[in-house]
Amino acid sequence: MDKICCIVLAAGAGKRMGGDLPKAIVQTREKALIDHLLDALQPLKPARTIVVAGHQQDLLKNHLSRSPSAAGHSIEIAIQDQQLGTGHAVRCALPALKDFKGTVLITYADHPLFTADTLALFASYHAFKKATVTMLSFKASPPNSYGRVIRDSGGNVLRITEAKDCTPEEALVSEANSGFYAVDSSFLKPAVEALTNNNAQGEYYLTDIVEKASKEGQTVAAFALANATEAAGVNTPQELAAVNTVLMEREIHSLQGDGVNFVDPKSCFIDAGIKIGNGTTLGPNVQLRGATSIGEGVCIEGTAIIKDSSIASRAIIKLGCHIEGAVVGEATSVGPFAHVRPGTKLGAHVRVGNFVETKNATLQDGAKASHLSYLGDCSVGKDTNIGAGTITCNYDGYRKATTSIGENVFIGSNSALVAPVKIGSGALIAAGSVVTQDVPPDALGIARAKQENKAGWEKARRSSLASSKPRSS
Ligand code: UD1
Ligand code: MG
Repeated sequence: MDKICCIVLAAGAGKRMGGDLPKAIVQTREKALIDHLLDALQPLKPARTIVVAGHQQDLLKNHLSRSPSAAGHSIEIAIQDQQLGTGHAVRCALPALKDFKGTVLITYADHPLFTADTLALFASYHAFKKATVTMLSFKASPPNSYGRVIRDSGGNVLRITEAKDCTPEEALVSEANSGFYAVDSSFLKPAVEALTNNNAQGEYYLTDIVEKASKEGQTVAAFALANATEAAGVNTPQELAAVNTVLMEREIHSLQGDGVNFVDPKSCFIDAGIKIGNGTTLGPNVQLRGATSIGEGVCIEGTAIIKDSSIASRAIIKLGCHIEGAVVGEATSVGPFAHVRPGTKLGAHVRVGNFVETKNATLQDGAKASHLSYLGDCSVGKDTNIGAGTITCNYDGYRKATTSIGENVFIGSNSALVAPVKIGSGALIAAGSVVTQDVPPDALGIARAKQENKAGWEKARRSSLASSKPRSS
């Protein structure tokens, strides 16, 4: 196969997207639109990649200087100061082509769905056909604003007619032009220089090179896409949302291929690049966001948001959890309805149950806080049990302070641990205590009013009230 040089058209303003960003750097799935395309082109190992910039060109240049997707290319920027059409944009790229000889692949920055496989097949098809120009076409129903591929009765491509220039008969053609072409460099240069703007839009149409090649008797081929989805371009916020959905579906499809089970894939939102282990099940309505990783055999029951967190193998995340900036250990169980906040580190076989909130809290292996607790700025040792309703009082209105709880401690229900405070290993805190002093290891800490039982007191009260006042119904 010939050497390949790519031209990426990215000068358009993308006015219909709203905002003032060049469309090429609008984000979808944590990457700019142009980055998706650059990633798909990269396996072709282009000798050089010429990006045609125009509107807000400094923003685009700055993006390309930092983007990992651009780093895989030898990028040159060509400037198109006035957007006079796709043909004019390629004309602006010609000086950067210099002495290049081979196949020029012309692409659009706002088409993020082409896969590397499709673009590789397209380039191979062009080489196999020994064509001068090969276009990438697809069946569009309806073809709307796309250019129509016009063939003769023998199926040979004659030209592309833009929607605005179509005769009523041409408008019915459903084979559409994706806008991507593979062109022999020796044909491209004179053909683009010869373009005129004598058409309905007064633009230099790149599409006219197809008719020129056909009229000259050169081989013109069309590589018809089986999957029209890949040809989608982004011109409006609606189209951006549709592209997002397709990219998400691809991600979920690939995770399913790795043995991840989605009970209701359409209801889940998974950020790009998140790793999920084999045998993990995600219930309905699960969002995995940011730098999150999920181990093998994990069960996320449903309706959960997990952000910037790592969940180890065989953990169970029950219904309704919000987990952020946290580490959840192996076979640990969280929820239902738990709020696990940043700085939380849960060891293996830990249990954080319903209506438990943790923040900057470390719970060592086997520790349990099963119900209704706030654990903030604290450490909890191995196999310690935190009773229902326990609160670490970590804030006095001005400063945060820490609570340290040793191993095998039993904190009785409804205790308040007023930080800074330390509970030694093996200690027991009596239920309902308000602990303000350190408790030594193996001690009983009891900090509540002593109970007094007054024999017969209530019986006497009842009879005195009954004799003084008639009972109301
Ligand atoms: C183009 C094709 C049409 C095809 C459609 C597919 C032409 C004349 N028409 O139409 O046949 O069906 O794409 O989506 O080529 N750009 C520049 N400079 C310009 C104009 C455009 O860099 O002066 C860039 C844009 O940023 C964009 C790409 O070229 O990345 C396509 O431009 P656009 O105006 O969207 O072309 P269409 O009218 O959609
Ligand atoms: Mg377009």
